[in-house]
Amino acid sequence: MATPKFTIEERLAKAKAILKQADQSQVLNYWDQLSDDQKKQILGQIESVDWVEVTRLVQSHVLNTPEFIAPKSIEPAPYLPRIPSKNLADKYKQAKKAGEKLLRDGKVAAFTVAGGQGTRLGWNGPKGSYPATAIRKIPLFCCFAEFIRKAEQKFGTTIPWYIMTSPINDAATRAFFEEHGNFGLRADHIMIFPQGMMPAFDSKTGKALLESPDTLAMAPNGHGGSLKALYTSGAIADMKQRGIEQISYVQVDNPLVKVIDPLFIGLHAKSQAGMSSKALPKAYAQEKVGVFCKVNDKVSVIEYSNMPDELSEMRDEAGELVYKGGSIAIHVMATDFVEKINTQEGGFALPYNRANKKVAYWDHKNNATVTPQTANAVKLETFVFDALPLCQESVILETDRIEEFSPIKNADEPGALDCPATCKQGQTDRAARWLETKNVKIPRKADGSVDAIIELSHLKAIDPEDLDDMDLPAAIDAGTEVLI
Ligand code: UD1
Repeated sequence: MATPKFTIEERLAKAKAILKQADQSQVLNYWDQLSDDQKKQILGQIESVDWVEVTRLVQSHVLNTPEFIAPKSIEPAPYLPRIPSKNLADKYKQAKKAGEKLLRDGKVAAFTVAGGQGTRLGWNGPKGSYPATAIRKIPLFCCFAEFIRKAEQKFGTTIPWYIMTSPINDAATRAFFEEHGNFGLRADHIMIFPQGMMPAFDSKTGKALLESPDTLAMAPNGHGGSLKALYTSGAIADMKQRGIEQISYVQVDNPLVKVIDPLFIGLHAKSQAGMSSKALPKAYAQEKVGVFCKVNDKVSVIEYSNMPDELSEMRDEAGELVYKGGSIAIHVMATDFVEKINTQEGGFALPYNRANKKVAYWDHKNNATVTPQTANAVKLETFVFDALPLCQESVILETDRIEEFSPIKNADEPGALDCPATCKQGQTDRAARWLETKNVKIPRKADGSVDAIIELSHLKAIDPEDLDDMDLPAAIDAGTEVLI
């Protein structure tokens, strides 16, 4: 980070030396044309990068594509079923109780990773500001805030909410929260902090790209960056001071996610796990989700692109996929686990992954920033699930699509998946499922789909049991929009 006690000249000399060693001296090509403020801007960026690590990564991940070596010892990671069998019923009951106790005792925090750029959706603003719900169109952040408010009221507790942004959307996210009065939550129970960034590299030359003469083209370093950012931002220290023992980790793009799930938290805590996950059974063999495996006896997620086809396609005698548990990025982490990996001798490093992307760069000849039509650059990201093998114990709990997974990733267009239209349907399907358990008659079309649009506010229910105290309609009329 910028160290004001050094003069610009001293900082320049240091930057030049480091960049020369990293073979990245082009970063300072325009130095002589920059104003003092611009000089400070680019020096700040240069100083935020670990150029020794960059040198190594350019060789291994930019100029070359790292080869995935299939582990020798690999088997599917078993997961606990969504609906407990008879012999698990008591374990689930006790775990739910334990999770609720942790909540009542104020030992659980919510954590949302929202540092991604959301380019696929084409939304101009932080993804969390996207109007997500089926009828009220409340933003994703508001949807999570309502979940937290209801959980706080239900368990008579405080659930502090930590939100990871990136330097690209941090100010806009803060402004959005302020504009909306923190969605009814107390400001001192919300902590917003940015994650780290990585330069983007020209895929042919391995050189760090400039977006303009005073600015390196940089991108968030992946959701794996959350594990470092939680620590370096002071969030972990803040949690420790508040007595937080468990962190409930969710992504910003899924309005159905249970921001807080007592059963999952309890199963994780009772197993003294470091980091636990929810799994979604894959719909088909080649579905593009990471797969829960046990590698050398440690729970791990293998990205779909690295899974050997014979494993992805393997079926048991009953015809079921053997490697079935898909990762949907829902986790609980022990505060102690996150602290431990950050403070252990030698620190910790998650592996980087290479992504080929279109990155705008400064065109010297035309004196302008150019946005390329095809991928010209490599971005490097770490994935949070790569921390799973670092813990001794790890629980995996099954969930299903209707209950908990309908993300908004892509823009609406005919046939699109994981888009606002499918999410609206997903919200309706879950509301219908919950209402049917309370004998509300749901209109259904011949194909079984719900013939209405239903939004069930998190302020009213975050679990079907919350519907018990409510005055519910006897039936929903076909073709109507119903907000509950
Ligand atoms: C991810 C998972 C995929 C999973 C899916 C579930 C990976 C590699 N893939 O895919 O296995 O099935 O989610 O929805 O993780 N984020 C940051 N900082 C970053 C990058 C991302 O905070 O630097 C956040 C985003 O804001 C978002 C989440 O991480 O909340 C997911 O990011 P995204 O890149 O969209 O993941 P997917 O490719 O959809």
